[in-house]
Amino acid sequence: MSSAPRVPAAPPQMRQPMTLPRLEEMKRNGEPIAMITAYDFPSAQVAEEAGVDVVLVGDSGAMTVLGYDSTVPVGMDEMLMLAAAVRRGLKTPLLVGDMPFGSYESSSEQAVANAQRFIKEAGCDAVKLERGGASVDRARAIIRAGIPVMGHVGLTPQTATALGGYKAQGRTGQRASEIAEDAFALQAVGCFSIVFEAVPAAVSKAIMPRMEVPVIGIGAGDATDGQVLVFHDLLAINSGHVARFVKRYAAIHEAMVAGVSDYVADVRSRRFPDESHTYSIDPDELAAFEGYLEQDSLAGKSAWDW
Ligand code: KIV
Repeated sequence: MSSAPRVPAAPPQMRQPMTLPRLEEMKRNGEPIAMITAYDFPSAQVAEEAGVDVVLVGDSGAMTVLGYDSTVPVGMDEMLMLAAAVRRGLKTPLLVGDMPFGSYESSSEQAVANAQRFIKEAGCDAVKLERGGASVDRARAIIRAGIPVMGHVGLTPQTATALGGYKAQGRTGQRASEIAEDAFALQAVGCFSIVFEAVPAAVSKAIMPRMEVPVIGIGAGDATDGQVLVFHDLLAINSGHVARFVKRYAAIHEAMVAGVSDYVADVRSRRFPDESHTYSIDPDELAAFEGYLEQDSLAGKSAWDW
């Protein structure tokens, strides 16, 4: 797995918190934006230490950490619990909460109320929602309520069934135009950024000159302003198939299974714990305690007598 030489991130106390103007500036300057998902306190701390720019509490957490077989079942309360844990582990990246399926489609009132929960209850800076169409109206309403919104077009997992499954989108001229229309509409209502997921690189590249807001790609080639990957995919924390667009940067599942297997073997062979993992007691105190246990009054008492 070849990667660019690692550039250590400045310590959090020396970094400025990420802001929307700074993201725009990064786009203008052609500085690539690094975004990642996180779902709990330790993954947030990792994102912070690695110097990530934007953290998304993705509804992909439904699958990666909650064990559902799609993103559809996850609810607001579950997402808020994950987002609040991430908040506690983050200082500088922009924190975006992913609005789960069913939390914004019914009406603009519903969308605004649930977006507000991400801000008030979980401490997110912004929310993300999927698709164009009716979602454009929802995005407009949330933005009018003062909450920054990130759009998401191309493969939108919440409606994967309607799209024919988890597969690349925009591979026909017609479908590519629909994706472009969705992106333009979301940009026009004021989304501060848009995710392009699983879109041919050439399609993203053709759309990019018309995008004024930062576009973050996942499986959308290298023409976008930044990239996002799912934390558990890029570190191989879960086993199983991953999409073509995932690059693995570590093999954590394997390392975790090896570690836990070694622990099990050590417990079974009594190699763990050894002296370095145990507490001592002063010999006089121990003798006093042993004397207590040997008292006649304790002899012959059964557990029930206590
Ligand atoms: O839920 C998620 O992780 C996402 C990213 C793939 C953008 O929406």
